[in-house]
Amino acid sequence: MRETRVSVGNGLFVTFEGGEGAGKSTQIRLLADALRERGYKVLTTREPGGSPGAEAVRHVLLSGAAQDFGVRMEAMLFAAARSDHVEQIIRPAILGGTVVICDRFMDSSRVYQGVTGNLEPSFIEALERVAVNGVVPDCTIVFDLPAALGLERVHRRANTAMVPPGQEVGLDRFEREELETHEKRREAFLDIAAADPKRCHVVDAAQSASDIAAAVLSIVEPMLPGSGGGPRTEAAQ
Ligand code: TYD
Repeated sequence: MRETRVSVGNGLFVTFEGGEGAGKSTQIRLLADALRERGYKVLTTREPGGSPGAEAVRHVLLSGAAQDFGVRMEAMLFAAARSDHVEQIIRPAILGGTVVICDRFMDSSRVYQGVTGNLEPSFIEALERVAVNGVVPDCTIVFDLPAALGLERVHRRANTAMVPPGQEVGLDRFEREELETHEKRREAFLDIAAADPKRCHVVDAAQSASDIAAAVLSIVEPMLPGSGGGPRTEAAQ
C-alpha cells in the first residue's frame, strides 16, 4: 500500500500485530513498563476499541452481532472504530509527545477482513485511508507463531476458571474460526512484513517471554524520541 509521509509531532506510534494467542498483551505491558522506567510518557491502547465510541463498536464486532450482515459491514465497523480511536486518542497523544503502543491496528483489517474475509484490496485500502487519516505506525511488531500453538493458548485461556476482573472470557467471533484460516492469517502478516520491512519487524513468539521482551525493546529503542532515530512521520493528507 502506498504511503506518502511528512514529518509531524514528537511521539512514536508502535503497533503489535499477529494471530491469536501470540502473547501480545503481556509484551505490550513489558514494553510500556520498560519505556516508563526510561522516563517516556506511554499510552497503551487496543483495537477494536481504545476510545468510548470504538469500545461500543468492539462489543458489536466481537460478540458476532454483526456477522450475519457480512464481512463488508464488519470491515466498515472496524474502520469506523479505528477512525474514532485515531482522532480522539492516538493522534492527540502522539502530537503531545507520547509513545503510543496499540494492540492491533490497520494490518489486522488487511489480514482478517481483506485476506481471510476475501474483500477486494481496493475496498480495504479505501477504508484504511479514511480510518487512519495519515496516522500510520512508525513501527509494527509482528508476533509470529504457528497457528496451532496460538489457538492452544487461546483455548487454555478461555477455559481458565480464574479470569482477572475486566478480562473477557470464552472464545470471540474470530477465535472460533478454523485452524486453516488462522494459518492463512499468519502467512498474510508475514507477507505484509516482507513488503514493508522499514515499518514491520517480525518477532518469533515461540521464544520465552523474556527473550521476546528483549527483542521488542531492541527494535523500538533506536526509534524513541531523542534517540537519534529521526522525527516521527505521518502520511500526507
Ligand atoms: P481481542 O480480544 O482484542 O484479541 P487479540 O487478543 O487476539 O488481539 O480481539 C480482537 C479480534 O478482532 C481478533 O480476533 C482480531 C479481530 N480484528 C479484526 O478482525 N480486524 C481488525 O481490524 C482488528 C483490529 C481486530
